[in-house]
Amino acid sequence: MTDDVLDIPFADAFSFDPSPTWARLREEALAVRVRTLAGARVWLVTRYDDVKLVLADPRFSRAAVVEEGAPRVGVSRPLAGTLPTTDPPEHTRLRGLVSGAFAHRRVERAREWVRELCEGLADDLAAGPADGVDLRRVFALPLPIQVICTLLGVPYDDRERFREWVELSYSMEMSERERVEEAMTSLLEYMGALVAAKRAGERSGERSADLLDELCATSLTHDELVAFALNLLVAGHETSANQITGFVATLLRDRRHWERLVAEPDLVPRAVEELMRFTRLSEVGQLRVALEDVEVAGVVVRAGEGVMASIGSANRDPRAFDAPDELDLGRTPNPHLALGAGPHFCLGAQLARIELQEALGVLLRRFPGLRAARPVEELAWRRVLVSGLAELPVALG
Ligand code: HEM
Repeated sequence: MTDDVLDIPFADAFSFDPSPTWARLREEALAVRVRTLAGARVWLVTRYDDVKLVLADPRFSRAAVVEEGAPRVGVSRPLAGTLPTTDPPEHTRLRGLVSGAFAHRRVERAREWVRELCEGLADDLAAGPADGVDLRRVFALPLPIQVICTLLGVPYDDRERFREWVELSYSMEMSERERVEEAMTSLLEYMGALVAAKRAGERSGERSADLLDELCATSLTHDELVAFALNLLVAGHETSANQITGFVATLLRDRRHWERLVAEPDLVPRAVEELMRFTRLSEVGQLRVALEDVEVAGVVVRAGEGVMASIGSANRDPRAFDAPDELDLGRTPNPHLALGAGPHFCLGAQLARIELQEALGVLLRRFPGLRAARPVEELAWRRVLVSGLAELPVALG
C-alpha cells in the first residue's frame, strides 16, 4: 500500500496517447489515493478486474455519492434520485420504468431515422468550406442532441438555451462553481416547466408519444421526473458527441485505419467497439462509496470511503486485451468497459451504438477522402469531466 496522494486528472491527461500514469499504476497493482479537483481524497483502481468489480459490486454505492459530506469529483453535485444516483432496489424500480423504451429491438427501429439525420448533417458538412470544416460543431454535436431531444420530447429549438448549461455541468474549474450552480438551477427550471406543460397537455388530451409523455404516465413524482429527464438529456449527448469526434480523429491520425474502413464498411460495428475501447473519454473515474469495509486491489476500502474506477485504464489493461495500445479494428472478442458494467450499465448503450455506427458509416461513404485539416495532435482538448477534442477541422477530400 502506498501513501502517495496523486492529483486527478493526472498531468498526462487530455491527449491521444495512453496515460503513462495509468500504465504505472496498473503495474503497481494497488489501489492508490488520489485527490479530486473538489479536494476529496478517494481510492482509485486501474486494473480491468478491479474496475469491473467496483462498477458492479453492490457494496459500492452510487446513492451514497449524493449524501451530505460524500466525496465529490467535479464542480457540480450529481442530482439525487436518478438512475446514476440510486442503488437497488430503488434503482431497479426506476430502471424498470425506462428499460422498455431503451430496449434493443425498440431502439433498432430508430436506426433508419438516425441514418437520415446523419445524411442531413453530412450535407451541412459538404456545404462548409472545403479546406477546413469543424466536424465536431457541424456533425458530431448536432446528431446526438437531435436524437435525444426527439426521443425525449424536448424542443430542439431550445438547444442553444440548454447547451451551455449542460456544458457547465461537466466543468472541472472550481472557480466556475457559482456559474455551475446557476446552470443547474436553470436546467432544473427549464425541465420543470417542460414537464409541467406535458402534464397539462396530458390532462387536455393533447398527447404526442415521446419518452417524457411515457414517463408522465408512470408513478414518478414531478421532481423525480424532472431529475430523470435531465439525466437523460445530459447523459444522452455529450458522450456520443465526444466519441464521434474522437473516433474520426483517431482514424485520421493514422489514415490507414480510415482507408481500411472505407474498403471494408462491414467492419464498422466491430470497429465501433474497438474505438470505444480505445478513445479516451473521461480522465477521472466513476465514483462509488463503500457501504462496508471491502478488500479490493490489495487494500481495504473502509465503509464511507470513496473509490473511483478508471474505465479508460481498464480498457488498456494488457491483462484483458492483447496489445492494448494498438487499434485493431477487427478485434474480437472485445469485452471493453466503455459502457460500464453491472446494474448501472449504460441505459443508452444500443442507442449510442446506433449513433456511432451510422455516423461513421455515412461519413465513410460520403467522404472517403476525408483528412484532418490540421495535425490532430495539435488540437485542443476540452478539460471537462466527459472530455474530448474541442474541435476537429477536416478537409472533405
Ligand atoms: C458513446 C456514448 C456513451 C458512452 C461512452 C456512455 C457511457 C456510460 C457509462 C460508462 C455508464 C456507467 C456509469 C457508471 O457505472 O458509473 C453510463 C450510464 C448511463 N448512460 Fe451512457 N454512455 C453513452 C451514451 C448514452 C446515451 C446516448 C444515453 C441516452 C439516454 C445514455 C444514458 C445513460 C444513462 C441514463 C446511464 C445511467 C444508467 C444507470 O445508472 O442505471 N448514455 N453510460
